[in-house]
Amino acid sequence: MSATSDSLDLFTPMFKHFRRLSAADCFTQAYSVTSHPSFFDHCPITTSIDLDESLGLKPISSWSLYSCLFSNGLYFLSNPFTSVGQHQWIHRALNDYARQTKTSVGDNSNNEQLARIRWATLGYHYDWTNKIYKDDDHTKMPNELAKLCQIIMHVISSSTNCPMMQAEAAIVNYYHLNSTLCAHTDHSEYDALTKPLISYSFGNAAVFLIGGQTKAECKPSPILLQSGDIILMTGSSRLCFHAVPRILSDPLLKEILCEHLDDECCWSYIHDKRININVRQVYS
Ligand code: OGA
Ligand code: MN
Repeated sequence: MSATSDSLDLFTPMFKHFRRLSAADCFTQAYSVTSHPSFFDHCPITTSIDLDESLGLKPISSWSLYSCLFSNGLYFLSNPFTSVGQHQWIHRALNDYARQTKTSVGDNSNNEQLARIRWATLGYHYDWTNKIYKDDDHTKMPNELAKLCQIIMHVISSSTNCPMMQAEAAIVNYYHLNSTLCAHTDHSEYDALTKPLISYSFGNAAVFLIGGQTKAECKPSPILLQSGDIILMTGSSRLCFHAVPRILSDPLLKEILCEHLDDECCWSYIHDKRININVRQVYS
């Protein structure tokens, strides 16, 4: 039987390719601004605002924002965080977000359970079974995360023509070095097509694949995401299939995070993990 356009899957072979590749080859084949500059279009940042120190951000004048030419509506903001800032966000993800809210482990009060955690939800809690949010299952979005998203959204939307979004829900993903995230689209939000999604990476690196709105539409492109990097999915990329086939131990991580810092507890967790904070607007 010949493959029809519905059954043709261009996504899975690329996922398997990155599963099998050596870490060194993943670092060189996945797109970064330095390894594949022609795939990234620099967007000058046209705004300047005062930043609250608790957000852990470098001055906006030093940020580098790019539009990704391989996926319409995908933006890449190269790590705008200080090393202390990255440390603070990892600390919040572990000590606040993993402990106070709904998580993949029921009792999340002790460190042993924490080492096994895979996800936590914030704001409107995602119901994984029914793939919906419910308006009566809600806790307050953490103030500092809402503030961070407001700043990032303001900077990106004033430098591009992308619409704003309100941070109403977040999924925090905790990855081990052998974890993966399968191909999926995020379409449970009411106005997914017009409301961007912001995704923060902390800790070890990842290969992030982004394809088309069906698995048959195009071959997915691999992006290298490192600690502090932010991607924003808007326009047609917002509804595209994406996945994380690979987490990569980052040889520079200790240097990035532990400079001037004395927090063994955070390092003992993150040295072989990656944390992704994935923020969405749920209601229009
Ligand atoms: C998600 C997601 C990507 C990542 O949580 O929906 O796509 O980079 N995460 O971990
Ligand atoms: Mn997703």
